[in-house]
Amino acid sequence: MFGKRQLWSAEADARVEVFLDESAGQISPNIYGHFTEHIGGVIYDGVWVGADSKIPNEAGIRRELIERMRQIKAPMVRWPGGCFADSYDWKDGIGPNRPTRTNFWEGDHDAQRLHEKGAQVFEPNTFGTDEFMRFCKLIEAEPYVAANLRSLPALSFDQWVEYCNSPAGSTTLAKQRAANGAADPYKVRYWGIGNESWGCGGNFTPEEYASEFRRYTTWIPNYGVDLQLIGSGPNGNDIDWTHRFFEEIFGGPHAYRNKGFKGWSIHHYSFGFHEENGHREQADALNFDKGQWYGILKECDLVESIITDQWSVMGQYDREHRVKLVVDEYGPWYREGTELDPTHIFGQQVTVRDALATALTLDAFNRHADKVSIATCAQLVNNINALFLCHEDKFIVTPNFYVFQMYAAHQGADMLRTEVSAPSLRYSAYGKAETFWGLNGSASRNGKTVTVTLVHPDLDQPKDVQIAIRGGGSASASATVLASDDMHAHNSFAQPKMVATRTLECTVRDETVHLRMPPASVAAIRIQLG
Ligand code: AHR
Repeated sequence: MFGKRQLWSAEADARVEVFLDESAGQISPNIYGHFTEHIGGVIYDGVWVGADSKIPNEAGIRRELIERMRQIKAPMVRWPGGCFADSYDWKDGIGPNRPTRTNFWEGDHDAQRLHEKGAQVFEPNTFGTDEFMRFCKLIEAEPYVAANLRSLPALSFDQWVEYCNSPAGSTTLAKQRAANGAADPYKVRYWGIGNESWGCGGNFTPEEYASEFRRYTTWIPNYGVDLQLIGSGPNGNDIDWTHRFFEEIFGGPHAYRNKGFKGWSIHHYSFGFHEENGHREQADALNFDKGQWYGILKECDLVESIITDQWSVMGQYDREHRVKLVVDEYGPWYREGTELDPTHIFGQQVTVRDALATALTLDAFNRHADKVSIATCAQLVNNINALFLCHEDKFIVTPNFYVFQMYAAHQGADMLRTEVSAPSLRYSAYGKAETFWGLNGSASRNGKTVTVTLVHPDLDQPKDVQIAIRGGGSASASATVLASDDMHAHNSFAQPKMVATRTLECTVRDETVHLRMPPASVAAIRIQLG
């Protein structure tokens, strides 16, 4: 029970109990990472505008993007894919002479319908390793590079590491890097060993991929850099892929011994597939009903069971859990039609629903801080679940940007166990009765400050919430909220501020925090301990 003075008052619809003495450890800042792929408008138009552009830029990189990334303290960026990674030759993207190649997504339906076959179809390689490293340096983020396992030999991967990390003046590639503007090594730690190797990354069986993984990672030059190697994990919650890979790697008499194997990647997209006019259809970003609002949130929420299921399989082979989970692609993925420019393949609008979906996903990562070491949201700009939408000189932030801003205080803080009691919601979707939780969230502590983030999915009713800190008391509190009366609300070039954060009133009485969450909202509450 709570200390004498921290009493629940009768009017609460929901109660949140935060346990100051129960932590699963530090929340890795890297779970607040981002993903950028050479697809549609992500790199060209999104990140890269070119040094000669009239659009304000820092050495070719869009300045407003840099400033916004600093505001959310973006800790990590993954690049160059995605599926693109396994068709990419890094040597094409360095130095003065860069060949034009066919982009991986050239065959995609969205690419085929384009009249102008530009950078989305024929990759100009203008943005390569040195430009990506410059972007990371400008925003002070860790680079996470996905290597090509499907179509390049292991030696080429070794040489990419050598190009990035060999000491100044040491190797021919270090000298080439210096000639390209970077004498000092980039010291890249995080390397993905292929991407979706069960699919676009090679269509391997788990055993075949395990054998490739061994070959690619048995020797990599390290130059004193603590390399963190990330294996290509399952499609969603494919348990079989993980069992068979881990069995092959750690089982039997020839167990794999490379301690650099630190991460197992998971991709979890929410497509909202359903029957429409006799066809299987993907959900729409803007055109949806109440059932589809809850349906997408519920599908995103499955990430928590994926984390716990995968973790338990991995633990059967890696008993000390040296390998952590890396959720390097996640988000709702809608059908085409809401992209802001036709060149933005997989571009989609981002509503307040997506902000809640992103927030509940980040809360799940926080709650499993002992298991998830990295997560990168797919994708940063002009794509699935983006934080930013831009075209030429127009640039806006989406509701997702605000979520990352509100949640930034969790980065590097100590996760605190949190119990939420709130009645479940009942709704109907496609004629079926369904339920979903009425409130959920996470908490962390940094010194005398506790940050609590809460997601309130109810479209119709506000909720009176009380928060009690067990093992301490609240002296003062302040809160920020993201909410809208319209579940379809989103920002556009014409109306860039339709959805934004505002201050939410909250009070402390008897050392308990009281606030009213509006319908369809995300809140971040900062509590000063007494
Ligand atoms: O994010 C778009 C694509 O989705 C990525 O290239 C791939 O890894 C995934 O299937």
